Amino acid sequence: MERISVAGPSITQKEIDYVTDAVTNAWYAGANIYHDRFEKAFAEYLGVRYAMTLPSCTSAIHLALLALGVGPGDEVIVPDATWIASAAPITYVGATPVFADIDERTWCLSAKSFEACITPKTRAVIAVDLYGNVPDLDAIEEIARRRGIVVVEDAAEAIGSEYRGRKTGSFGAASVFSFHGSKTLTTGEGGMLVTNDEKLLARAQFLRDHGRTPGDKMFFNHEVAYKYKMSSMQAALGLAQLERIEELLEHKRRIFKWYEEELTGIEGITLNSAAPNTSPVYWMVTIVLDPKFALSKERLMELMSERNIDCRPFFHPLSSIPAYRETEQAAAARARNVVSYRIAPYGLNLPSALNMTEEKIRTVCETLRTILGRGVTAASGADRP
Ligand SMILES: Cc1ncc(COP(=O)(O)O)c(C=O)c1O
Repeated sequence: MERISVAGPSITQKEIDYVTDAVTNAWYAGANIYHDRFEKAFAEYLGVRYAMTLPSCTSAIHLALLALGVGPGDEVIVPDATWIASAAPITYVGATPVFADIDERTWCLSAKSFEACITPKTRAVIAVDLYGNVPDLDAIEEIARRRGIVVVEDAAEAIGSEYRGRKTGSFGAASVFSFHGSKTLTTGEGGMLVTNDEKLLARAQFLRDHGRTPGDKMFFNHEVAYKYKMSSMQAALGLAQLERIEELLEHKRRIFKWYEEELTGIEGITLNSAAPNTSPVYWMVTIVLDPKFALSKERLMELMSERNIDCRPFFHPLSSIPAYRETEQAAAARARNVVSYRIAPYGLNLPSALNMTEEKIRTVCETLRTILGRGVTAASGADRP
């Protein structure tokens, strides 16, 4: 059986044509044509004023925090269960990440935990749209406004999702996207910073090009800054993908529906679930197993892998991994974040690549059911984590 990948893009002749055109023609006076087109189309798609192409979402979070003036002595609240890229830029700027708990249903930042984590040092919160799901953005924005905290929305995984009819990635002072090869819309590697704030945009543009003012022809640097630019070939790829966005999102919705049809009703399996007023497009279809199966995500991944199916683990709480676990904030988070610690050990991302077919999903689900069947009988023995 052909190995089933966990994530991957849909690339057609359109993408090949655009990239070919960029590599052939996007030089000299036309060097930025594809950046301009991609940024303009992306901002329009989201309904925001500005979009800025970047080499990654990590660099977008980094620039957003710098442009907001976050630095040493500040605390930034981030959900405990997310990819480290949501938190690492907090550390880059010399601020302290504070790990809040996630919501039981959406697996995204809990508004209640966010509020409980606020101290006089809190400057910003990074609200992550985990696996395409959406946190309670109204509640988070209301708390942030009341307490004078800036919101950055990490929509790396959530292109196409909606909250109260508004697209994710259009909330907060700034929002960020990832176009990594695993994402719904890809540029291979890449990211976008979006904002309605002209000043924030100008500061981010300045910082991303070694502290030069945009358009500077004198190679004159005012500050020591960064070099964060996307290539025109990547921008061309992104534009082609964006022009196919409805098709890509439709396939993601179909993938979730097929899984839902196969797995709903199996006791002990919880799939991604949408909160009221949200319309998520799941980047990764994810299951959380009841502990009664006595199967850790690591063991389940191994068992699936032995059967030619690649899965990914639900993100480990950041407060549990070596990169952060020795910090004071991590110790506090481990004591506080019961939901993150209850869900993370038993969560698995199922193959959600854009080359998934109904037949492949049936294979994944049949395999999963077989393993779990054994897992239950073996709750008294074999296959225990
Ligand atoms: C939630 C989240 N934030 C940030 C990132 C960082 O994206 P990139 O790899 O483009 O830097 C990712 C990437 O997977 C992510 O999943």
